[in-house]
Amino acid sequence: MKQQLVDKFAELFGDAEGVSTYFAPGRVNLIGEHTDYNGGHVFPCALTIGTYAAARKRNDRTINFYSINQSGRGLITTSLDDLTPSDAAGWTNYPKGVVWAFIGRGLEIPTGFDMVIGGDIPAGSGLSSSASLEVLTGFVLRDLYDLHDVTNIDLALIGQYSENNYNGMNCGIMDQFASAMGKKDNAILLDCATLEYEYAPIALKDAKIVVTNSKVKHSLVDSAYNERRAFCEKALEELQTRVNVKTLGDLTEEEFEANKDAIGDEVRMRRARHAVYENRRTIRAVEALKKGDVAEFGKLMNQSHVSLRDDYESSCPECDVLAEEAWKIDGVIGSRITGGGFGGCTVSIVRDDAIDVFKERITAAYKEKCSLTPEFYVVSIGDGPYKD
Ligand code: GLA
Repeated sequence: MKQQLVDKFAELFGDAEGVSTYFAPGRVNLIGEHTDYNGGHVFPCALTIGTYAAARKRNDRTINFYSINQSGRGLITTSLDDLTPSDAAGWTNYPKGVVWAFIGRGLEIPTGFDMVIGGDIPAGSGLSSSASLEVLTGFVLRDLYDLHDVTNIDLALIGQYSENNYNGMNCGIMDQFASAMGKKDNAILLDCATLEYEYAPIALKDAKIVVTNSKVKHSLVDSAYNERRAFCEKALEELQTRVNVKTLGDLTEEEFEANKDAIGDEVRMRRARHAVYENRRTIRAVEALKKGDVAEFGKLMNQSHVSLRDDYESSCPECDVLAEEAWKIDGVIGSRITGGGFGGCTVSIVRDDAIDVFKERITAAYKEKCSLTPEFYVVSIGDGPYKD
């Protein structure tokens, strides 16, 4: 990938002298879904797949972007003096948003740059290709313009800020944090209310993390996501008439049950119930993992799926089939939809000796019930962004 980007860079911009190459990972979330923007906990890990860049500063104010994954779109050019989002800018609205957010923070970007990118995260899979592109862009800017006071947590916050305010998606901090702060063979338990975090080694002795791509991405994902978030905020306001809490993540299940009648709508109640229970589940799941109780971790993953399916309604029929079929297979420790939802992937923990059977049975059931062929990735947990 790296050489391909450098060659393309030379072809587009005359030579590759002084070009640097960079990488930022995608992520998979093991448990803690739709809890980040509710002040709860998440437990994602960075992957060894992600987005790569070859980049170099320019002497003028022009910014050139090129993606080898979208070569049909050719070179997309903008300028430091024209950083408004536009439909025509397509995928470059993500890196442009990060440049815009850097400048908005008072960080100096005195010249433009040329950047060729390429990624190996399957498109539309929900493994955070956009967050990895945002973190990658921030990482490139920090390096090119010697902005060494910018920390990796800042890169995550800037990425999220740009996604919220430039790209109109009200995402939480999980994806950018997982990409910016990833650590090989570890997942990150992150308290999204305080950004306190700890690494937890994922030492699955005789099992692997298997991501299954449903290959579906339902339309209106962003608006459905933003709507879920708005419902949770409203439910929180209603609960705050009774209990003194800052976020849904501050509530225990018991406190929620004792006060849920303050929520004036059944759908809003279920959305908030998911956020509260999922947060507690995440904490318990990590405790179980620390004790080496992978079976309990898996059970909690399954419960997470049920809650996302029934209370949050952010799964979809295809991902329900993938998870529910997985639960039937001996050797599957846990399986659930992962990420924003409404399509994308499931994440499963599968015993090594069951992986082949898992792939066969899921493929057959998915073909039969959804007329689709899933894709499987046995993933490895990688580090955060790097230059090489
Ligand atoms: C998307 C968002 C994250 C998080 C998840 C759901 O991936 O970008 O911030 O809310 O959905 O857990």
